[in-house]
Amino acid sequence: MKRVSIDIKKNQNVDIYKILAAAITPRPIAFVSTKNKMGISNLSPYSFFNAFSVDPPVVVFSPTGKPKGKDQKDTLSNIIETKECVIGIVNTKIVQQISLTSCEYPSGVNEFEKAGLSEVKADLVNASLIGESNINMECRLVKVIPLGNKSSSGNLVLCEVLKFHVNEKIMNHNFEIDPKKLDAVSRHGGNFYGKTTEDSIFEIPKPKAKIGMGFDKLPKKIRTSSVLSGNELAVLASYEDIPKKDPDFVCNQTSLQMHEKAKKLINMNQVDLAWQYLIHD
Ligand SMILES: Cc1cc2nc3c(=O)[nH]c(=O)nc-3n(C[C@H](O)[C@H](O)[C@H](O)COP(=O)(O)O)c2cc1C
Repeated sequence: MKRVSIDIKKNQNVDIYKILAAAITPRPIAFVSTKNKMGISNLSPYSFFNAFSVDPPVVVFSPTGKPKGKDQKDTLSNIIETKECVIGIVNTKIVQQISLTSCEYPSGVNEFEKAGLSEVKADLVNASLIGESNINMECRLVKVIPLGNKSSSGNLVLCEVLKFHVNEKIMNHNFEIDPKKLDAVSRHGGNFYGKTTEDSIFEIPKPKAKIGMGFDKLPKKIRTSSVLSGNELAVLASYEDIPKKDPDFVCNQTSLQMHEKAKKLINMNQVDLAWQYLIHD
């Protein structure tokens, strides 16, 4: 692999942003609803966003930059003033409306109205739930951490989640949310977005062992196989020990055929049997 190295100090913010925003993907999008001190709602998307603690449940997003004529974005001003917000999760049915709310409207313009989205009264905080979001989180501000005072400096907004509101159609009684029904939209670099379609989602069973043996413990013949990929070797290396040979296992194939058969079996999730082919090679 030939690499292009990019020195932060020798490049402009706009290019650093392009790389950060394209590299750290797919990013979840926080649809942040706040109110100003006059009680007027504000709604904007923030994809510098994630969850960082379960107890207390803390999520963080980052308003970055100063719009023309303002010291900071309205969401940041409002949350510093009221100490409360609602964060909604974005889905494909409203993605164009989300994009519309990201216009730099003057302070005091209600983006729920601009984008035709519905305000629903929250139980605990002075900000509206987003009627069209499958998940809304009522949040209280923990603190704001400014990361600098330059035009592209971020401001980490740490929010404690006080209450979730989840569309009952997307969650079972065990609090398991179906990712396909959630229909979350993610942000990529440039103008790219991602959706959670049937073929973009897959499961990886947790490593079979409590502590997988690791690549270094795989027999050399397996580790250096010309047939098995890094992913396939990782499935084998997630076993705690090399399985014992099954005395009833009979196979009269060449080494290459055995590895090819094992490869197929790993990808069909029949890993115990794949191991037998590999250790009888
Ligand atoms: C999908 C999406 C994600 C965005 N993420 C961020 C972000 O993480 N940080 C940020 O400062 N601006 C982000 N923006 C731009 C803001 O939404 C935009 O500046 C908005 O006008 C801010 O509104 P406000 O002043 O009402 O808070 C994003 C825009 C879009 C469309």
